[in-house]
Amino acid sequence: MADTARRSYDVVSSNPKKKRGSDEEEEEDKAYAIKSAKMTTTKHGDPAQALASARHEFGEHGGVNMSIEASATFTVMEADTMRRMFSGELGPDRDFFIYSRHFNPTVLNLARQMAAMEGTEAAYCTASGMAAISSVLLQVCGAGGHIVASNCVYGGTHALMAHFLPRACGIATTFVDAGDLGEVRAAVREGLTKVVYVETMSNPTLAVADIPGLSRLAKEKGIMLVVDNTFTPMVVSPARLGADVVVHSVSKFISGGADIIAGAICGPASLVNSMMDLQHGALMLLGPTMNAKVAFELSERLPHLSLRMKEHCDRALAYATRMRKMGLKVIYPGLEDHPNHGLLKSMANPGYGFGGMMCLDMGTEEKANRLMHHLQNSTQFGLMAVSLGYYETLMSCSGSSTSSEMSVQDKERAGISPGLVRMSVGYSGTVEQRWSQFEKALSRMQDEVSKN
Ligand SMILES: Cc1ncc(COP(=O)(O)O)c(C=O)c1O
Repeated sequence: MADTARRSYDVVSSNPKKKRGSDEEEEEDKAYAIKSAKMTTTKHGDPAQALASARHEFGEHGGVNMSIEASATFTVMEADTMRRMFSGELGPDRDFFIYSRHFNPTVLNLARQMAAMEGTEAAYCTASGMAAISSVLLQVCGAGGHIVASNCVYGGTHALMAHFLPRACGIATTFVDAGDLGEVRAAVREGLTKVVYVETMSNPTLAVADIPGLSRLAKEKGIMLVVDNTFTPMVVSPARLGADVVVHSVSKFISGGADIIAGAICGPASLVNSMMDLQHGALMLLGPTMNAKVAFELSERLPHLSLRMKEHCDRALAYATRMRKMGLKVIYPGLEDHPNHGLLKSMANPGYGFGGMMCLDMGTEEKANRLMHHLQNSTQFGLMAVSLGYYETLMSCSGSSTSSEMSVQDKERAGISPGLVRMSVGYSGTVEQRWSQFEKALSRMQDEVSKN
């Protein structure tokens, strides 16, 4: 390291596993980083295995957990080091940090974990899922660019594309049925389309995107495939199936605690670096970065994400199967008669299941609301709340909540019926306990409806 004072600081560090005083040790560290980056780009690797193979960062004093670098700014002991950092000669890959809106060591470590999990070269963690999505689109499209997007995406993403981006910078979006590759192809405007955008499993209809097919199309047309994998971390690894960029609302399953708002962008190092450019970078200049304390919290939760996802998925399949047997209109891609079951099976990482989200179509908003009322207030099956990935079951009527940004026609086109109850299946309590709560709530609702 060129900065001698920083070197002496490293030498006196009491962390035996992190002493980096000599060039030799630094080389070793660099080689390790390159090695782990290579491991994370394995095409069909299991995400939990890839995550466990990523570098384990120890605390400053040898703690099993990394230290939190709760600093907005970083010192240099030689004035010229600052110039070299700003010129891009010295960067975070060599442990040189300028300012935490740019890179922060703790946030970067979480990003390394995210990149390992998703099998991408690099990642950057943001303050929210929307920050991740909007930054990628602004960076890749530029003014006057064009997006081809699935007509069924999270309501906020839909509003961003339908209203905000056209008004703010002339970025237009054509919404299509992403399940129809011919429709996607026909919507591409040669020279103008920069991005094809889908959710692995759409919010809220749970339609599954054909990522290998979309990737082939995007590559042929020279455009970028951006996939929101919020609903299916671990279950599907879009980058290993050909997606260029994977975005996440980390606020959901990855956090698991319903206590944090966060996001991530996983993709090529060239994209992340361009987004950090001092003159042109959407992340650097719009500044939606993650706080180091939040990054620490999340990095502690990633190692048990695979276990949580398996339980979410097992229970969703159990409830969906039983609800179907009762004759209810269930939408769950884990059921064999779901139109995308085969596709999901062909893309899913083995052993995780088919997702922790399911929907019940109650026909009308009134019935949906009555059912949710009893599920929460009469039997404590779950909570009426938006969001997902919590240990308790969360339920919302999508048409009047998380997709309310969409017009009636857009909702119809996307297949969001007014009585659609979206459930994020939790894992607290036992399956039988929760199932009996569900049965009781349903029968109360049915009694009320038959009396009216
Ligand atoms: C699929 C999906 N993507 C993105 C977002 C936005 O994420 P955040 O709320 O973290 O900004 C959401 C939020 O509900 C979502 O469901």
